[in-house]
Amino acid sequence: MKKTIALLPGDGIGKEVVDVTVDILKAIAEHFHHQFQFNYGLIGGDAIDQKGTPLPEETIAICKDSDAIILGAVGGPKWDQNPMELRPERGLLALRKELDLFANLRPIKTFESLLDSSPLKKEYVDGVDFVIVRELTGGLYFGKPSERIVHEGEDAVVDTLLYKRYEIERILVSAFEIASKRRKHVTSVDKANVLESSRVWREVAEEVAARYPDVTLEHMLVDNAAMQLIRSPKQFDVIVTENMFGDILSDEASMITGSLGLLSSASLSSSGLHLFEPVHGSAPDIAGKNIANPIATILSAAMMLRQSFGLEEEAKAIEKAVDNVLNAGNRTADLAEDGKAVSTKQIGEEIKNALGDDHAILNIMEAYS
Ligand code: IPM
Ligand code: MN
Repeated sequence: MKKTIALLPGDGIGKEVVDVTVDILKAIAEHFHHQFQFNYGLIGGDAIDQKGTPLPEETIAICKDSDAIILGAVGGPKWDQNPMELRPERGLLALRKELDLFANLRPIKTFESLLDSSPLKKEYVDGVDFVIVRELTGGLYFGKPSERIVHEGEDAVVDTLLYKRYEIERILVSAFEIASKRRKHVTSVDKANVLESSRVWREVAEEVAARYPDVTLEHMLVDNAAMQLIRSPKQFDVIVTENMFGDILSDEASMITGSLGLLSSASLSSSGLHLFEPVHGSAPDIAGKNIANPIATILSAAMMLRQSFGLEEEAKAIEKAVDNVLNAGNRTADLAEDGKAVSTKQIGEEIKNALGDDHAILNIMEAYS
């Protein structure tokens, strides 16, 4: 198979984690006889420094000419004082909007070997396996007006939570589709006791649910959901929610697994051109030190192979290799005891080598079957 992959490493640890991921994708291409072509593009702070804008036209063109996109992270203190339109985050938000990447899937699944790494007790996290389906192109992030104003003679500020009905419907449909292939339970998270937008969200959720008789729908208020994620995370199968709630709840949920450095995500569009990125940010405090955990990005690449290219076996090979390497006790600094951490590059090498092992085992089994 021949595929073109756009790579947008971005800022901070973005470059390091994308580098390691590319190495692994190259190894996959070799093992499974594919051709992956990688095209690099600028985004975020890097793009501001070099091109004066967080999302240059060339980057959009590179993405549109590709079959899938892998992004590292954007942001950093260097650009904190910039006006809003010249913040690195704007680049990512504009790309999500430009490519209509409306459905952000963030799987939360505990690793057997990391049960003790979670700040929650083992019996609560063992067996956790759910997906957060976060709406990604609407709500407070994009509504206008969003500005400082004078209101009733006072200095004031306004942000706008706006959703078109079809935007609510399509994200709910995505959630029900996913749930129908899983344990068939959707938890729709809102703030319907306060927000009009949430009341409409509930209405639409009920309409969509009627089309999926074998999937159960439960509504949950967002404050309660934040509590339930800690109290009993195993109750969830698919959580669907609007942009801002999903942003907050997914960072919270990441700690169930032990580290934000493990969480992968896919941002899906209606056009079929999807973006894959770790849930974590650019972590400027540890950037350039070769200590970041690349697993979130590596697992995002596995999601890409499965979702965008239909390469199930290859995706599984990566997931299995990550599992094996963690089972063997390799830990990056976010998960290691003091003094026992392996570097970004080392864990990348281990995962790459483990790919080979698994494939070899597969060949042997084939030979004897
Ligand atoms: C995320 C990030 C982004 C978001 C930022 C970088 C704009 O936190 O992908 O979760 O808030 O969506
Ligand atoms: Mn976030």
